[in-house]
Amino acid sequence: MTAATELLSAIGTVGRDPRRGGFSRHGFDPVELELREWFVAEAERRGLAVRADRNGNLWAWWGEPGRDAVVTGSHLDSVPGGGAFDGPLGVVSALAAVDLLREHGFAPAKPFAVVVFAEEEGGRFGMPCLGSRLLTGSIDADAARHLRDPDGTSLADAVTAAGLDPARLGRDDEALAAIGTFVELHVEQGRGLIDLGAPVAVASSILAHGRWRFRFTGEGNHAGATLLGDRRDPMVPAAEMVLAARVAAAEVDDARATVGRLVPNPGGTNVIASTVDVWLDARAPDDARTRQVLDRIRGMATEAAQREGCDLAVTEESYGDTVHFDTGLRDRVAAALGGVPALPTGAGHDAGVLAAHVPTAMLFVRNPTGVSHAPEEFAEAEDCESGVTALAAVLGQLAG
Ligand code: GLV
Ligand code: MN
Ligand code: MN
Ligand code: MN
Repeated sequence: MTAATELLSAIGTVGRDPRRGGFSRHGFDPVELELREWFVAEAERRGLAVRADRNGNLWAWWGEPGRDAVVTGSHLDSVPGGGAFDGPLGVVSALAAVDLLREHGFAPAKPFAVVVFAEEEGGRFGMPCLGSRLLTGSIDADAARHLRDPDGTSLADAVTAAGLDPARLGRDDEALAAIGTFVELHVEQGRGLIDLGAPVAVASSILAHGRWRFRFTGEGNHAGATLLGDRRDPMVPAAEMVLAARVAAAEVDDARATVGRLVPNPGGTNVIASTVDVWLDARAPDDARTRQVLDRIRGMATEAAQREGCDLAVTEESYGDTVHFDTGLRDRVAAALGGVPALPTGAGHDAGVLAAHVPTAMLFVRNPTGVSHAPEEFAEAEDCESGVTALAAVLGQLAG
């Protein structure tokens, strides 16, 4: 068996981002395409037959493709300046689990596939879980084709450059019917397993979460020649909105709200911006609380915009309601592992999108830093191997 960490180190130079630190690997960009080629080669080296589906997700079949398969995998893209584990750990663990099962003389009785979903983080086109949302039809294909990256390239053009037909993007009933059960292994993104002192857990739920773009529009002007009283500076309400996000989230039990991206246009030191785009990421245990946080932030941002004579337009870019993973499957997973803790997560996953359609489970591997979406994200080699052993045990049970 090739160790998961050995596979990870094989891609450890691909997509490094010297400016931000960590990795920047985004859907259908040259770096992600290189990672996909690497995956194809690794899968083929194991005798798996790889094909891309209509939405650019990769499927590596162990044995004959078929319906109702046991499917495992994750994603290879990252957030800007992300860690080495979020996504790739699930992919390399799936390959290592295939190796381990084989070493034990196991051959799946059911169709079995390792899948790599496209653009899970939404780091390029703004839509998280793009590949799984397209596959399941949970986003409109035409709207998706028109998504644009920060350079203005449309998703339609990006997939065309990657050799796909943009007209065929969208709900893929054949691919969906192929998935009988989906299991995603993932590095943990918080401190749950540190606190429990355990290497592996099974996921119980995912917070409701969404992304919204707040566009403040004022009047571009000169930083030196424009008197304070004459300004309509959209950066001022944008700054108030950042603080409003913290206030609103603190008012609601177990809610989170984050501004991780704020873009002034045109963005010059001596220029009062004409517009500022502020992206809000808001999450809470349920839809009502998430909407409550959003509405409170929108209210405060609207008042701040009015005080400065600016306009505000809010666009919902993505949304996903709370996910409660299939309890029957979770019990089977826990039983296959001789009992493991169950943990909720605040992070979104393709498994969460698929959970609305098929029985889905997730395994988390301890992250000793408790940090994710940053270069400090980590998992010890020993815990990664515990993850592979656990994943192989679960897959063996499901596909045996
Ligand atoms: C993706 O990992 C997210 O939770 O935003
Ligand atoms: Mn992530
Ligand atoms: Mn992930
Ligand atoms: Mn994610």
